[in-house]
Amino acid sequence: MEILSGFQLITQVPGSGPPVSATDGLDSREGREMKNIVFKINPLVSVYDFVALIKSTQLADRRPVDDIQRMEDMLKNSNLIITATLEGKLVGIARVLTDMSWVAYISDLIVTPELQKQGVGKRLLKEVRGSVNECCKLLLLAAPSARGYYPHIGFREEKRGWVLPPDKEILE
Ligand SMILES: CC(C)(COP(=O)(O)OP(=O)(O)OC[C@H]1O[C@@H](n2cnc3c(N)ncnc32)[C@H](O)[C@@H]1OP(=O)(O)O)[C@@H](O)C(=O)NCCC(=O)NCCS
Repeated sequence: MEILSGFQLITQVPGSGPPVSATDGLDSREGREMKNIVFKINPLVSVYDFVALIKSTQLADRRPVDDIQRMEDMLKNSNLIITATLEGKLVGIARVLTDMSWVAYISDLIVTPELQKQGVGKRLLKEVRGSVNECCKLLLLAAPSARGYYPHIGFREEKRGWVLPPDKEILE
């Protein structure tokens, strides 16, 4: 369990019972209105809350937000999810597929527009980093609008990446 100024972290391992919460923290950074954002590791996430969060950002054009079954599959089959909530509302999420020891693929990183540039995205990624083994690398495909973000927070560009889009087959 961890207590950080401005944020509250709740850790929940799936199947381990109700989450244990840390002490409330209030944030008054740079004179902004106080926020009490709660971070949770692997909570249950409603697909409708997930879709609403994505729809509030430019990422809506790049995810199948109108196909609820597919969105549900994306949530259900992720094995590491960190959420940020404010007064119970989902305001941020990192959705990750990982083996915990070699690679953690960050499939979604989203912060609601009203809370962007206040450290929430960085904190979600720190929780991802802290949830996998030290030897595990983080990997992702950046959306065009976030291309400048990742180098700014310490990621380096990887030119060895290759993608087979869903509409392509392996060549004979
Ligand atoms: C990209 C995103 C997750 C960043 O989250 P955030 O909470 O706004 O970012 P943070 O507050 O952690 O920002 C940390 C630093 O990066 C900077 N930053 C934030 N967004 C940035 C961007 N798009 N480009 C460059 N720098 C950015 C911040 O100004 C801050 O700088 P500082 O530490 O020098 O003050 C958020 O803007 C978002 O959800 N965007 C829409 C969805 C999206 O495109 N997701 C990415 C998919 S790959």
